[in-house]
Amino acid sequence: MRTTETTNTNQSWFRDAAFGLFIHWGVYAVPGRGEWLMLQERVPLDDYVKLAHRFNPKRYDPRAWAALAKEAGMGYMVLTTRHHDGYCLFDTKTTDFNSVKTAARRDLVGEYAAACREAGIKVGFYYSLEDWRFPMRGGMQADMARWREKVARVHAQLEELMTQYGRVDLLWYDGGFCLNDDWTTSPNPTTAEHWDAASLDAMIRRHQPRILINDRSHLPEDFTTCEQHITAAPPGRLWESCWTMNNHWGYFPSDPLWKPTKQLVQMLTACATGGGNLMLNVGPKPDGTIPAACVRRLREIGRWLKVNGEAIHGVERSDFNTGTAGCASERGRTLYVFVHWWPGSVLTLPKVDFEVKSARILGCPRKVVLERQGGRLLLKNLPQQAPDRLTTTIALERV
Ligand code: GLC
Repeated sequence: MRTTETTNTNQSWFRDAAFGLFIHWGVYAVPGRGEWLMLQERVPLDDYVKLAHRFNPKRYDPRAWAALAKEAGMGYMVLTTRHHDGYCLFDTKTTDFNSVKTAARRDLVGEYAAACREAGIKVGFYYSLEDWRFPMRGGMQADMARWREKVARVHAQLEELMTQYGRVDLLWYDGGFCLNDDWTTSPNPTTAEHWDAASLDAMIRRHQPRILINDRSHLPEDFTTCEQHITAAPPGRLWESCWTMNNHWGYFPSDPLWKPTKQLVQMLTACATGGGNLMLNVGPKPDGTIPAACVRRLREIGRWLKVNGEAIHGVERSDFNTGTAGCASERGRTLYVFVHWWPGSVLTLPKVDFEVKSARILGCPRKVVLERQGGRLLLKNLPQQAPDRLTTTIALERV
């Protein structure tokens, strides 16, 4: 039974999807040192703008991105339509610093939205409220006229995004902070009022009545986000954890620290345990292609989900004690035990205070023998080696 209750009644797709693709892409892909390059290297505005005249993604094929997300078993994608650097990957009347007016000469967001829809993937837009092209002299309070100009641009661009590309399923705000002209920035010096976020969201919902909105405009809206950690929101609240696959969001070829697929699968199961979603990030190259290390991992996860998806998509959170195994999720009378660490032929569940009719190993025909020992339940006759080296799921059917 689904108990989630929030402001938006059309959200079952989000839990059913359970798994999404985050895409950090923009002119910063050209130098390839991440999306914070402009601030971290204190790149003067005039120099930074030149990147847009070199960003010409000749091999950009959003259909290939959507096909990859599908293959990975994902249900939605979220693309950075504008990051903190203010570069717009869409057609906008508000600034020439956009993909249509510079080297790319394409509406990258338009093509992306069409490709998602065609593939049956939900369309998500990431949008940074902060725009480093508006550094505030002496902080925001010192120049409210300029601040208002900055916020007006946010409202205008979001209205374009909500009206130019058909149905948008998800809006992923970020960057609810403010950069000062001495390059200092603190994480949260702004409030919802500073961005006029309530009327902004009202406008968005007027154009997109079914959209889901995250919590990063300082309003709770539909779902909570956590980043590079997995922390479940209170029951009844939708949540999502987003992660990089190496240690950077934007393309950063000198970072080779790719997480092993087994770890990524375990993150997916950890989110399922808490009743939340996982959104995994890729940072495409300047030519528009996704790094091979990401492609390989996403395909492996997709193969895993083909077998284990019923334990991930649309499940309920579970606090079931799996002992040494890993974690669990639930749906109705079925309890899914994710065995991260395979024990050999016997798995001991330490505290099973309900009756179990039967157990089956997902993707493996071996018959599981159940043996009750007081409060413990032993699952016997298991294969000596893990049937799935990434994580094996055992489904218990409760009476
Ligand atoms: C942080 C970073 C930003 C990234 C985001 C993803 O807020 O500032 O670069 O887009 O995390 O969650």
